[in-house]
Amino acid sequence: MSKWDPTQYLAFGNERLQPALDLLARIPLEAPQTIVDLGCGAGNVTRALKSRWPQAKITGIDGSPEMLERARAEAPDIHWVEADLNKWRPDAPCELIYSNAALHWLDDHERLFPHLTAQLAPGGYLAVQMPRNWFAPSHTNITEAVQSGAWREILEPLLRPAPSHAPEIYYEILSPVAQSLAIWETEYCQILDGENPVAEFVKGTQLKRFLDALDEPQRSSFEAAYRERILTAYPKRGDGKTLFAFRRLFILAGKSGTRHA
Ligand SMILES: C[S@@+](CC[C@H](N)C(=O)[O-])C[C@H]1O[C@@H](n2cnc3c(N)ncnc32)[C@H](O)[C@@H]1O
Repeated sequence: MSKWDPTQYLAFGNERLQPALDLLARIPLEAPQTIVDLGCGAGNVTRALKSRWPQAKITGIDGSPEMLERARAEAPDIHWVEADLNKWRPDAPCELIYSNAALHWLDDHERLFPHLTAQLAPGGYLAVQMPRNWFAPSHTNITEAVQSGAWREILEPLLRPAPSHAPEIYYEILSPVAQSLAIWETEYCQILDGENPVAEFVKGTQLKRFLDALDEPQRSSFEAAYRERILTAYPKRGDGKTLFAFRRLFILAGKSGTRHA
């Protein structure tokens, strides 16, 4: 896995936090005792979970030591665990499995989502948000930039098919195993400041592993090829702002049964 840079990722902290809070607001649990945050990153969303349910045992799980170091420093009272989500299995069923902007890094959602639902306690919820902006210029231009230069041979194997699917696919996957199901999408109109902010935003996530695969001077040339395309696709407006429409998918799957106090 490519290294994560918490500072670059959190440069757009408010824009990245909003969908996490929107998902949190839809969870109908009053006092869950066991909560896991899968792919918790630097822990800013995990802290929001802790604020809503201070009595709960909350575990943040992530595969990046850099992100977890930041998370631990900010909230030592939360239990932080370094682990690969592909292999994660809780010791006991969880009342809430929450995941913001992480599960699209994992493949095979046809297996993953029923597996996660099976780890819920009776009355528990699986709450997930994933980006679904793969067909917008911010993301299609990664592919175009990859294919535009001598770096193509190195970078093309890193391209993945769109990792999060259309809502109806998740309906097909989850309706046989969930007793309640809500699926929705929101396209956020993000109003950004700065020079080429869309390129900076994507550099914090999807672009990073391509940059990490190259040495200089190819790295800078590839980044310049991407940035140039993005400036054309997302021009700065007269007032200095850049609008970045970003589609996100939300899933809230509930398991029937009575929770134990
Ligand atoms: C975009 S960040 C989201 C962080 C946090 N949930 C938030 O909303 O701020 C994605 C996180 O998923 C983690 N991640 C991706 N694939 C993973 C895997 N297979 N195992 C563990 N963590 C993974 C990364 O390390 C990263 O911290």
